[in-house]
Amino acid sequence: MIYLDHAATSYPKPPDVLRAVARCMRECGGNPGRGTHRLAMRAAETLYECRREAAEYFGAAGPERVAFTMNATYALNMAIKGAAGAGDHLLLDRMAHNSSARPVFALADAGASYDLAELSGDPERIREELEHKCRPQTRAVIVTHVPNVANREAPLAAIGAFCRRRGITLIVDAAQSAGSHPISVEKDGIDVLCVPGHKGLLGPQGCGMMILGERYAGGKTILEGGSGVRSEERGMPDSPPERYEAGTPPTPAVAGLLEGIRAVRRYGTERVLAHESALAAAAADALRALDGVRVREDAPGAIVLFEVEGMPSPAVGEELDRRGICVRAGLHCAPLAHRVLGTGKSGAVRASFGITNTERDARALADAVAEIAARHGR
Ligand code: ALA
Repeated sequence: MIYLDHAATSYPKPPDVLRAVARCMRECGGNPGRGTHRLAMRAAETLYECRREAAEYFGAAGPERVAFTMNATYALNMAIKGAAGAGDHLLLDRMAHNSSARPVFALADAGASYDLAELSGDPERIREELEHKCRPQTRAVIVTHVPNVANREAPLAAIGAFCRRRGITLIVDAAQSAGSHPISVEKDGIDVLCVPGHKGLLGPQGCGMMILGERYAGGKTILEGGSGVRSEERGMPDSPPERYEAGTPPTPAVAGLLEGIRAVRRYGTERVLAHESALAAAAADALRALDGVRVREDAPGAIVLFEVEGMPSPAVGEELDRRGICVRAGLHCAPLAHRVLGTGKSGAVRASFGITNTERDARALADAVAEIAARHGR
């Protein structure tokens, strides 16, 4: 089996991650922040260690700025819906995934308004776009750092500087970039960085993070419940991370995530991107040389997006799976981005590379697509 679907979730996970999950369930089986007995304390220490590691890796002001969520979508929902309400305006990246687009659409249905903006590419052009599209009512700019169907990148520091000057909340979807692109919450001027644990950070599914800038005062909550502190109060506590962590957190997934972040840091973030980009470029070059295959994405990065003439993309995905190659085809929950790429009608096939892939995997993909195009294509 050749796994080329790392943009959906990374696989396989490092052995340290697998061991940490099992160890946590065996040895730290209490409920963190709920009780002071030894098992609850060990679970709380696990969370703290991961907050510390994540804050350091993402340049946040301290461990308390890291809140655990179920995934990046939860984090984005909390950040976006916490930032705006009826009468407010939002600016949404044209390359947005549904994880940020749908919360914005939900707010729009409830009386907010939004505009789409092109936020990747030249920082000066983006600054002009921001000047042009932000209004006095604009409460948040929601940036897709790296889209899930293309290799472009948003210049976070430039957007952050603009948002700081204007007092606008900067929310960043780092679903595809966390672990492969350097990000600094404080230096880039990010208010809320939304991160999945199970993609580039190599952790288990079931845990994401909302990493808060030091100046971010906190928005409305969209999920309320037990927080382990200030139980006598009606509302959630004001301060992070408890404000954003209603209910029992996914401690075993956090234990795995801690080891995933450590593995990425040992390997080196820049090396991750260089490795993935080299493989994706090799695959893209080989695919481009094939008759009846159209490669849609040619910027450097971990993704190859392509179509086989005369075949619906899901059928290409199924044929690849029959040959033991895992990719994702269709719209990838990103219809806005596909529209920008010209594949908005039925999407495309996406191969996405990770650190465990090799050149052989890139060649195997091209060989399999060559065979599929020759046999089933137009
Ligand atoms: N957002 C993930 C993807 O792009 C699941 O496949």
